[in-house]
Amino acid sequence: MRSPLPSFAYDALGGRVVFGVGAVEHLGEEVDRLGGRRVLAIAGKRAVDGLVERLGGRWAASFTDVQQHVPVEAAARAVAAAAEAGADCLVAMGGGSATGMAKAVALEHPAPIVAVPTTYAGSEVTPIYGLTGPEGKRTGRDPRVLPRTVIYDPALTTGLPAEVTGPSGMNALAHCVEALYAPGANPVTSLLAEEGARVLARGLPAAVADPADLAARSDALLGAWLAGAALAAAGVGIHHQLCHLLGGAYRLPHAELHAVVLPHAVHFVAPAARPQLARLADGLGGEDLAGGIWDLGRKLGTPASLAELGLAEAELDRAATQAVAKVVQAPRRAGVSELRALLEAAWQGRRPSPT
Ligand SMILES: NC(=O)c1ccc[n+]([C@@H]2O[C@H](COP(=O)([O-])OP(=O)(O)OC[C@H]3O[C@@H](n4cnc5c(N)ncnc54)[C@H](O)[C@@H]3O)[C@@H](O)[C@H]2O)c1
Repeated sequence: MRSPLPSFAYDALGGRVVFGVGAVEHLGEEVDRLGGRRVLAIAGKRAVDGLVERLGGRWAASFTDVQQHVPVEAAARAVAAAAEAGADCLVAMGGGSATGMAKAVALEHPAPIVAVPTTYAGSEVTPIYGLTGPEGKRTGRDPRVLPRTVIYDPALTTGLPAEVTGPSGMNALAHCVEALYAPGANPVTSLLAEEGARVLARGLPAAVADPADLAARSDALLGAWLAGAALAAAGVGIHHQLCHLLGGAYRLPHAELHAVVLPHAVHFVAPAARPQLARLADGLGGEDLAGGIWDLGRKLGTPASLAELGLAEAELDRAATQAVAKVVQAPRRAGVSELRALLEAAWQGRRPSPT
C-alpha cells in the first residue's frame, strides 16, 4: 500500500501578475488599481527615463542609485526620497537590485510596490529583503515588501545581454533546484519548481543564441516567476547558503556565483535527494543532473569556476570553516571537509562526475 503524503503547511502568497509581450503598456492602469497618485520610480539610469514617461502624471520622483545587495546608505537615501515626494506607490523596473531597493523603501515608508522585472532574479514574487551594512548582508521576511503587482513583459528583456541572461537564468534555476529539497518543500512548490526548471532549460539557450527571440524570452521569464514563487514558499538549502556566504565575504557577483556553484552543490546533495531531483531529469541531463547543469552553463557561456570570479584558492579553508556554522545539515550532512571539497570543486570548475 502507498504511504500518505507527508503533512505540510503552505502559506500561499498573494499578488497580481500581468504577463505577456507588451504587458508594460498596462503599467499606468496597474498603478491606478492600487490607488497610486504619487509614484517613486526606482530604476537604474538606463531604464528610468522610459519608466517616467510611462508613469505620466503619476510620477512624483525618481531614485536611480540601484546597486547589488542594497547598501544601507543607498537605502536610506531612497527612503528619504520617498518621504520627500510623499510617495504612495513604488514602481521598480530592472533586475533584482531595483526590486531590492523598492523593498528596502517599503520597510520604512510603507507603500505598495509594482515590480517590472527585466532579469530572472525572481525577487519580485518573494517577501524576502536584503540589506548590506558594515557587518555584511542581512536578510529578512516581511509581508510589506512583497510586490502587490508584478508586470512581466518579455519584450523588455530582449536588450538583456547574453552575459547577464546566462547567469541570471542559472540563478533562477538554482531556486527551482533547491525548492525541491528545501525545508518548506511541498507538492505545490515542487510543481512550480519542476515546471520552472523545464521552461528555463528550454528558453535560456535560445535567448542567449538570439536575444530578440520572444518565445525564448517568454519561457525564461515564466521560469523566473515560477522559480521565485517556489523559493518564496519552500525556502533554500546548502547552495544558497554557501553563495550568500561567499557573496557577502568576498563581494562576488550574485548571479555568476550561483551559476558556478550550482552543479557542484547538486553533485553534493544528489545522493541524499535522488527522488526529489529526479523531477528535473527531463531536459537537464537525465540521471546526471549535476553534469547536465554544468553543460547548460557552458551552453550559456556562464563562468565555470570560482577562480574565474577572482576568489583566491588560499581562501577556501577559511570559507569552508565559516560556512559550516551557516549551512543546514540537510538533505546531506556537510562538515568542514565536505564543504572544503565542494568549494574546491567549484573553484576548479570542472564538470562534476556522475553520482
Ligand atoms: N529577495 C529575493 O527574494 C531575491 C531573489 C533573487 C535575487 N535577489 C537579489 O537581487 C540582486 C541580483 O539581481 P540581478 O541578478 O537581477 O542583478 P541586477 O539587478 O544587479 O542586474 C544585473 C545587470 O543587468 C542589467 N539589466 C537589468 N535589466 C536589463 C535589461 N533589460 N537590459 C539590459 N541590462 C539590464 C542591470 O543594469 C545590471 O547591470 C542581488 O542583490 C540579490 O541578492 C533577491
